[in-house]
Amino acid sequence: MDTILVTGGAGFIGCNFVRFALRRTQSRVVVFDKLTYAGSLLNLHDVERHPRCAFVRGDIGDRAAVKAALDRYRPAAIVHFAAETHVDRSIEGPRNFLDANVIGTFELLEAALWYYRGLGAARESFRFLHVSTDEVYGSLEQGAFNENSSYAPNSPYAASKAAADHFVRAYNRTFGLPALITNCSNNYGYYQYPEKLVPVIVLNAAAGRNLPIYGDGLNVRDWLFVEDHCAALIAVLRRGEPGRSYNIGGGNERTNLQMVEALCAALEEQMPAARNPALRARGATDYLALRVFVPDRPGHDRRYATDIARMRREIGWRPLCPFDEGVRRTVRWYLEHTQWCRAMLAARSQPA
Ligand SMILES: NC(=O)c1ccc[n+]([C@@H]2O[C@H](COP(=O)([O-])OP(=O)(O)OC[C@H]3O[C@@H](n4cnc5c(N)ncnc54)[C@H](O)[C@@H]3O)[C@@H](O)[C@H]2O)c1
Repeated sequence: MDTILVTGGAGFIGCNFVRFALRRTQSRVVVFDKLTYAGSLLNLHDVERHPRCAFVRGDIGDRAAVKAALDRYRPAAIVHFAAETHVDRSIEGPRNFLDANVIGTFELLEAALWYYRGLGAARESFRFLHVSTDEVYGSLEQGAFNENSSYAPNSPYAASKAAADHFVRAYNRTFGLPALITNCSNNYGYYQYPEKLVPVIVLNAAAGRNLPIYGDGLNVRDWLFVEDHCAALIAVLRRGEPGRSYNIGGGNERTNLQMVEALCAALEEQMPAARNPALRARGATDYLALRVFVPDRPGHDRRYATDIARMRREIGWRPLCPFDEGVRRTVRWYLEHTQWCRAMLAARSQPA
């Protein structure tokens, strides 16, 4: 049985990946996570005691702690999700983003290289998979980003991820670490911390609160259901070529307004506005009436779109979940997990 060490495995995509890997592979999965406000054992409640799952609380910036975990669990692969991820927070305070995403990734790379060099025969199959974002490419007028698009990050978050990507690339080229990079578009699905667009819209609408939309709402994102992202990462681990980058996307370009409309439509199906006392109390008859336009985010990228030709051709992956179905499943999950949302938000006020 081989082992995958998953940094950031207690966060949104990480915890979906842990579940996916336990379900679809025979690997042991070791989560290495600092448990910041965005990460929680609540996200792993159903797999924490799985016989093939282990959890280590630690900071990727703590090289000794990472080395100890590598030494103890001897993974065949590291999948690196751990990061500060909220663009708005990176505008309010970029420093954390440098610490976690740049210095953290650097320390992790150092530990990984040390471990890799001591591997012997197992070196051949070892992989370091760095999970990154299409935001490193900046904003797009026409066409779609591919793996040769130049980096032009616009937010401190994107700049920190771009820097991390460059370090990962350099550790491959300079030191021969068998590293791969994936640059993925916006994910939606279960367990996303309730500060990002999708959970905020669903939870606010259900509670009859305003639905805040940045600027004119016409910024375009390419949405991917999180489980499709997890499948893509497993496929890249198996079939990707070290030293190469892979763009992952859903082929679902939507303006933020369209995303809000899709979420409200799914909500209407599952919790009709006419029967929702929170809406009645506000005198609203449908969810879309709750939309309010708020001042735009500074440096807000207008459009992202991702060309996944390389993933299709070389890895044999494509997204499977249709957008409307993914939205329906996501809305249902948040409606059924209001307790989780409350607990995640309550934990934010606790010291880390
Ligand atoms: N969410 C998206 O749409 C999206 C799209 C493309 C790429 N990504 C990338 O995927 C990764 C995961 O994103 P997410 O949305 O799941 O993030 P998230 O904010 O939900 O989770 C991040 C996780 O990393 C952990 N973490 C943060 N700093 C750490 C540190 N120093 N040491 C150890 N653990 C630490 C947190 O505790 C948390 O569990 C990130 O690298 C992000 O850049 C996200």
